[in-house]
This record gives sequence, C-alpha cells and structure tokens, in this order.
Amino acid sequence: MTPADDLPVTRGIVARAAGPVVHATGLAGASVGEVVHVGARRLLGEIIALDGAVAVIQVYEETAGLEVGAPVELTGAPLRAWLGPGLLGATFDGLERRLDRLAEAGRWLILPGMGSSDPADVGESRPSRGAATATARWTFEPSLEAGAVVQPGDVLGVVAEGPLRHRILVPPDMTAGRLARLDGGRYTADEAIGRLEVDDGGRDLFLGHDWPIRWPRPVRSRRLPEQPLVTGQRVFDMLFPIARGGTAVIPGGFGTGKTVVEQSLARWSDADIVVYVGCGERGNEMAELLASFPKLVDPRSGAPLLDRTVLIANTSNMPVAAREASIQLGVTIAEYFRDQGLHVALLADSTSRWAEALREIGGRLEELPGEEGFPAYLGSRLAAFYERAGRADVLGMPEREGSITLVGAVSPPGGDFSEPVTQASLRLAGTFWALDADLAHARHFPAVGWTLSYALAVDRLAPWYREMVHPAWAERRAKAIDLLAREKQLLDIVQLVGADALPDGDRVDLETARLLREAFLQQHAFDPVDAARPLDVQFALLDAVLAAGAGLHAAIDRGVTLEQALDSEVLGELRRARAWSGDDVAERLRALAAQVADLVAEAPS
Ligand SMILES: Nc1ncnc2c1ncn2[C@@H]1O[C@H](COP(=O)(O)OP(=O)(O)OP(=O)(O)O)[C@@H](O)[C@H]1O
Ligand SMILES: [Mg+2]
Repeated sequence: MTPADDLPVTRGIVARAAGPVVHATGLAGASVGEVVHVGARRLLGEIIALDGAVAVIQVYEETAGLEVGAPVELTGAPLRAWLGPGLLGATFDGLERRLDRLAEAGRWLILPGMGSSDPADVGESRPSRGAATATARWTFEPSLEAGAVVQPGDVLGVVAEGPLRHRILVPPDMTAGRLARLDGGRYTADEAIGRLEVDDGGRDLFLGHDWPIRWPRPVRSRRLPEQPLVTGQRVFDMLFPIARGGTAVIPGGFGTGKTVVEQSLARWSDADIVVYVGCGERGNEMAELLASFPKLVDPRSGAPLLDRTVLIANTSNMPVAAREASIQLGVTIAEYFRDQGLHVALLADSTSRWAEALREIGGRLEELPGEEGFPAYLGSRLAAFYERAGRADVLGMPEREGSITLVGAVSPPGGDFSEPVTQASLRLAGTFWALDADLAHARHFPAVGWTLSYALAVDRLAPWYREMVHPAWAERRAKAIDLLAREKQLLDIVQLVGADALPDGDRVDLETARLLREAFLQQHAFDPVDAARPLDVQFALLDAVLAAGAGLHAAIDRGVTLEQALDSEVLGELRRARAWSGDDVAERLRALAAQVADLVAEAPS
C-alpha cells in the first residue's frame, strides 16, 4: 500500500496504546480511514474513529515497545493497494508486503509477531509494488497511440506475464483525456509509460496504479451469472454448483476439510486467476501451499499454477489488525483482475478469523458488543465483502466481461452453525456447502452434507449444463438428491426395525445410495487421478450409478436375489471406477452404465 508521500506532514502524539489500538492527539485535519505512521519505527496504522481531539488508530504491526508521547504522522491517504504486473505468483501479507523471500528462508511462517524478527522488516518496510522490486522490468506493448482519447478503464496495452497477457488499464479514478504520449518499452513500476492530457494539466501513466482497498472498484454494469465455476469436484459441479461470479460459504467444524476444499478449488477450478487469502490460519498450511504450488501445472495452460495465483497470508501468528486488512486486499486484487476482463476465484480461509479480528479490535475500542461479542456491524461488513463478488461488464474499451467468484470458509466454534458468522454469511451466499462432522469422522471426503447444502443458482445454470454437459443433467441431479433424502428416511426405519424387515425395493435404494456416496460423492483430494475430474467424466459416473440403481430394481423384479445382483462383476467395476485414468474414462463409464442397467442378464440366477 502506498500512502501519498508528497503532502505536508501533520504530527500528533501517542496518548494511549492497548495492543493494536492506539489513541493519538494533535492530529488536526485527520479523517477516518486515513493511514498514519506511528512511533519511531513508523508502524503502519489506520484511523478507525475520531472522538473529539482523539484519533483512534488500528495499528497493523506489533505495538510492543510503543511509548506515550511517541510521534504519529498523518499521510493524507487511505489504505491502498498497488495493482499492476508482478502480483501473480507472489505472496503478500495483509498490507501487500511481499513475504515470499522470507518464506523461502522458511522464516515468516514460524516466527511469532511479524513476518520477520528483523526490525528492519517492520514499520518502514513499504509495500512492494507487486513483484516490482525497484529493479524489476516488464515489456509493455501499447495498443493505443498518442492522440487517442481514453476513458477510465480503457486498455492501454499489455505486458506478458507468464501465460497471462496482463492488460494495463487507465486507472478507474482518472478522468478522461487525450494521450500525449504512450510508448512501448521495458519499464519498472516507477517509470512512466505515457502521459495523459486532462483539463487541468497532465498526468503520468504507469504500468500499475493504487486503489483504496475498502472502496469497491466501479464497473459499467452488473450481470447475473449464467455459467458455473467448474471445480472438478463432483459434489460441487454435479450437485451443488457455484456460479461464475457467485458466492459460496463453507462452514465446517474443526478438521472437517475447509482448507482442503479451498486448496482444491485453488488448484483445479477453471478460473483465470486465483486469489487465495489465508486469514488467521496455521502457518504450516500456508507453507505447504506455497511449497506445492510451484510444482503443480495448470491443465489449461501447461504453466505452473502459481503463475495464475496471488497468495495473501495472515497466519495466526501475525498481528490481528493486518488480518482485517488482508480480506480487503484480497478482494481489491480480485477486482483489479476482473477489470481486465478475467474470471477470478477469491478463496478466503477463514472468514471467521477475520470476524474475530473485528471482534478483538471492537473490544479494544470498548464498543457495545453484539451477539457473542462480535461488533454490531459484523453483518454489514460481511455483506460489503460478499457484494464485491459478481459478474460484470467492466469499465473501458475494448468491452469485456469479468467476474469474481467468492468462496469463504467459516469456522464455527464447536461446529455450531447457529453462531453469528455462519448465520450472517449464509444470508449472503448463493451456495452453501455445509461440512458435516459425522461425514468427516467417517472419512467421507469432501464432507459436504447433502441435507443442509444448497445452490440457489441451479435453475439459472441449468441451461448451460443442458448444452455443455448433458440434456439430462438437472433431472439426474434431482434424482441423486432424492435418493440421498430417501436413504436418510430408510435409515431411520432400519434403526427401528432392522434392515431385514425392509422390502427388497427399499434395500435396492439403500444400496444405490451407498454406491452414490462411495463411488461418486467421495473424492480423494490427494489422489493424483481422482482429485479433479472433467464434467463429462463426472456426469458419466453419476449416470452409471443411477443406472445401476435401475439395473438392481429390474434384477430383483425378475427374481434375482439382491445379494446375487450386488455380487455382479460390473457393479464391482463401478465401485472401482473412481480410480480409472486415461483419456477414455467418460467413454468407458458410458459403456459401464449400459452394462449395469442390464444387470439381469449378467447376474447368476
Ligand atoms: N477431500 C479430501 N480428501 C482426503 N482427505 C481429506 C479431504 N478433505 C479433508 N481431508 C482430511 O481431513 C483433514 C482436515 O482437513 P482440513 O485441514 O481441510 O480441515 P479444516 O476444516 O480446514 O480444519 P481447521 O478447522 O483446523 O481449519 C485433512 O488433513 C485430510 O486428512
Ligand atoms: Mg483449515
């Protein structure tokens, strides 16, 4: 983030400090949201309230050692992110300072306090401009010439960055004007690529620009999503899909698989760009993610997955206030790539830790707490965050569409979904993937519970599935969900009277539901073959399982015993089909579906 440097400095002093909350006096002209530098180490802080002559500041760094009377400087600017080439493949803290160099040394993930124990790395340390250390250069190819009239959001040209043609934009907050100059060449982030003539003079243009992280970036118009974000995960893509530009929430108690889901989405979803915010989670998980990403290859581009990914890490051992900023930074970066006309997946793990940061800071402010100690504005803050997702026609020419799909994990204490963060998130998200502790204990992964989960966008996505996947997708999906509901009812009866008392038809339904769970819904995230599947393979497997149900019914109708039918070779194959690999899996599954539908012929009588 880069507060403006060139304004006259107003100085105040620290009057009181309590953890991340500092009171300062003498800051005439301060405004809420303004960035300040606190103390001799110039710790980065933000004014969150003004109370008479007292400015209340939330400090993003460890305040130990700060003294009453220490200087506080206004910067005249809100907290801003720098957006431009070099974000991809980088890891930042919540204030957009690069962590990867420290991570390579294996340091920041284990040290308490800031990312580094080296005092030189805190306070003064300024945001790096993406990968733009002062020396990094990119080759800019202009697509416009001097004399052209440009509007906010217009594409000035591109920079090749890994597999991406990174579009360089006229900043959305710049006024329209005429290009006095725009030159191709190799530039650092600090060198002007051109100049814009506007009514009141001229302004230099750069490869990147700043944007206040708490302000949503404007778009031309919003659109309803009509296409899914394809995740490669059967339970999502086939049963509870998320729209491209939609929002999903994953609540789950301790160890139910939230992080594994988020990381699977980061790896396998068909987004152009992934922004992953590790918010208040364990450092070793982020370390694993960092270690694994460079080795993974994007199946679409053949390039390392890291090349389309921005990681933001505020692990549990980092200062709590920066955790609050990390979510805002993540969504701002996501909006920037959306504005280029790209489809972005924003993955936040976990929004509960972010809400806890709000609670902790609210507590220090001695605000009147709301439910379970969370501030009364928890719901509106969450809403402001979720509302920044969506599909949009973005500003500027050439016309283009972009989207942000937001998936937020929630960690309800004790796995109790009635707690405030889960409840508030649930009201905001269109897709609800409820992780079920019983399924996780039974090692059924992903532990997405089918009774609580839902996807509101299903009807809007159905035409896309009909055309792109299979005409019968919606019907098969409904059938699968009915079957799981039926299983639940039948299991209640079995509890009372035992399985033997059930009619054969009901026992067939139970067996088919079991197949659905074991051969279809379970998907091992760490299995190289089954971790992600294309849609045609997913559908063919679902269809084969449902065909097996029909085959079993037909078999017993013709006098085959259920035990004999279950013993059949083709059902055995279906149970193992999850492990199949190769290019022809969908085809083989379709052949298998035909065979299982015809169990009567095969089963010994
Ligand atoms: N799809 C999956 N395939 C295989 N194993 C899984 C899957 N999902 C979760 N697991 C197992 O469950 C464990 C816990 O998962 P994870 O760390 O994602 O849980 P969490 O909900 O994020 O936990 P926490 O509340 O501690 O953050 C994993 O280490 C893994 O062993
Ligand atoms: Mg986790």
